[in-house]
Amino acid sequence: MLAIMAAPALADSHGKKKPELLSGASGAMLAASCNGCHGPDGVSVGPGIPSIGGQSVDYMVSIMQGFAKGEVPSTIMGRIAKGYTADEIKNMAAYYSKKPFVPAKQKFDAAQAKTGAKLHAKYCEKCHEDGGKKAEEDSGILAGQWLPYLHFTMADFLSGKREMTKKMRKKVKKLLDKEGKKGLEALFHYYASQQ
Ligand code: HEC
Ligand code: HEC
Repeated sequence: MLAIMAAPALADSHGKKKPELLSGASGAMLAASCNGCHGPDGVSVGPGIPSIGGQSVDYMVSIMQGFAKGEVPSTIMGRIAKGYTADEIKNMAAYYSKKPFVPAKQKFDAAQAKTGAKLHAKYCEKCHEDGGKKAEEDSGILAGQWLPYLHFTMADFLSGKREMTKKMRKKVKKLLDKEGKKGLEALFHYYASQQ
């Protein structure tokens, strides 16, 4: 009897029901099947697979929806993302967003990284703040992300398979016009250098 009465009182004091209760599986339980590829706590140890621990909830939800709809190109994530409900995706995103983003231990070219830092300030910092370290609501963390992953994803943007926002496209075009592919490469080394 006591337990039955306690339940609604709890729901009232929290206002909304917790999302976990709606889908029946917590973010941690669901994330167990992601960690095989993305690493424990979303810290990826495979250079082709992005780290997702510490990314923002909004970005993760939007990119998972993009994968599921086929709007964001993918090798594997499209099929995976389709297997989850909107609530499950929210729960997983909430789970990963609370983990720290751990920069990848990787090689980089120091001279290119130095050039990249300047180019970042000029072309990218406006939206990828803090040298690309900030978990933006609408985009992924760049600083400390795996360099091969940054290559793949930028290639998708440049080929038009993944859509850039109009403003990002303008900046990337300016960068390529002025600095060429070398400029992009320098930027990637700058992101990789932040460890
Ligand atoms: C079989 C390996 C594999 C599994 C399992 C997997 N992923 Fe992925 N994930 C990838 C790869 C590879 C990419 C890059 C896109 C692609 O090619 O599919 C990626 C990309 C992502 C991204 C985009 C990151 C960014 O910075 O843009 C998110 C978010 C993500 N995965 C979340 C998840 C979640 C949540 C799960 C569990 C439900 C999961 N992944 C399971 C391999 C995997
Ligand atoms: C006007 C804002 C803006 C500017 C300027 C900008 N970006 Fe972006 N960037 C975004 C947004 C928004 C996304 C997420 C796009 C999406 O998934 O739909 C993004 C995504 C990315 C991603 C993919 C991250 C991931 O985890 O998959 C990379 C890489 C990237 N940007 C690199 C750059 C670089 C390099 C520059 C500078 C040359 C730059 N961006 C300038 C807004 C911007």
